[in-house]
Amino acid sequence: MSLILDVRNLRVELPTPRGMLQAVRGIDLQVNRGEMLCLVGESGCGKSMTSLALMGLLPAKARRSADRLAFCGEDLLTMNERQLNGIRGARMSMIFQEPMTSLNPSFTLGDQLCEALLAHRKTSRAQARERAVYLLERAGVPQASDRLRQYPHQLSGGLRQRVMIAMALMCGPELIIADEPTTALDVTIQAQILRLIRELQQEFGTAVVFITHDLGVVARIADRVSVMYAGQVVESAPVQQLYGQPTHPYTQGLLGCIPVRGKTEPGSRLQAIPGVVPSLIGAVEGCAFYNRCPQARQACLSTPALLPHAGQAAHAVRCVQAHGGDQLRAAA
Ligand SMILES: Nc1ncnc2c1ncn2[C@@H]1O[C@H](COP(=O)(O)OP(=O)(O)OP(=O)(O)O)[C@@H](O)[C@H]1O
Ligand SMILES: [Mg+2]
Repeated sequence: MSLILDVRNLRVELPTPRGMLQAVRGIDLQVNRGEMLCLVGESGCGKSMTSLALMGLLPAKARRSADRLAFCGEDLLTMNERQLNGIRGARMSMIFQEPMTSLNPSFTLGDQLCEALLAHRKTSRAQARERAVYLLERAGVPQASDRLRQYPHQLSGGLRQRVMIAMALMCGPELIIADEPTTALDVTIQAQILRLIRELQQEFGTAVVFITHDLGVVARIADRVSVMYAGQVVESAPVQQLYGQPTHPYTQGLLGCIPVRGKTEPGSRLQAIPGVVPSLIGAVEGCAFYNRCPQARQACLSTPALLPHAGQAAHAVRCVQAHGGDQLRAAA
């Protein structure tokens, strides 16, 4: 399988009045062609900063660094703005939580859908409109050709998100980054949009980085999952393995917060993870989950590395106790 995205040791720092905030603290991500990788974690763990860092769209004051940040083998770190613009919106596109932040209220949907295709590909306006209608239909937007003349405010939230999905697909991208694309929608629409993203991703063979705080959503769509906590990946595994053998206490805690068919007794109380995420201002010593972990011990005061679990290369865990002696030797 070919690597669409190869990220090593990605870091994002943001200056704040109280000091430098380490929003992303050394993340590795590999996404293969046509694969759906879910990034999951609580609010504030650095999911959006990671996605904006991948797209080169961080706030101006943020500082990004990485050992490697490659898209289809090309180094994004050394590209200039013109080269990045050739990739963004064409080969790598993004879907946000709130479509109104990316749709321009004063242009028709037709103009906005066709814009990227006309800018990036040699195509006529008529061909661009034809593709827009085709993709709107594929994305489940009724009366697709009439919609091209409409403005964003004339659509419901669910329809707007369908338009965003069609727009993300216009140039036939190799990668889509979707940051909580269904969080703002009500539950039934959310389920439809999830199904749609999964179907189109499989049909078009697009790789997707799907960001969510909801492990119930992950179970429905992911191929692989990276669980984030306090700016780091703490566990990464194929989806079946993550749900079958959750190994990091944070993953176990998150799974305890959602109902699981066949496991959760009807009417029983779901858990919550007590405590709060530590401050990410300045250095974080030892395990970042230490103060909330029901299994915390003295050994957890040493800083854990993300290592393969039980010899399985595809399942990595950042926990001193999961690795026992191996972890302690690696840290030495
Ligand atoms: N513009 C900013 N300036 C300073 N700090 C910021 C800014 N945006 C985000 N942060 C901080 O960076 C950290 C990571 O935020 P991020 O938005 O990536 O989290 P997230 O995982 O996407 O959360 P959510 O689920 O709420 O969207 C948080 O501590 C947040 O407070
Ligand atoms: Mg976010």
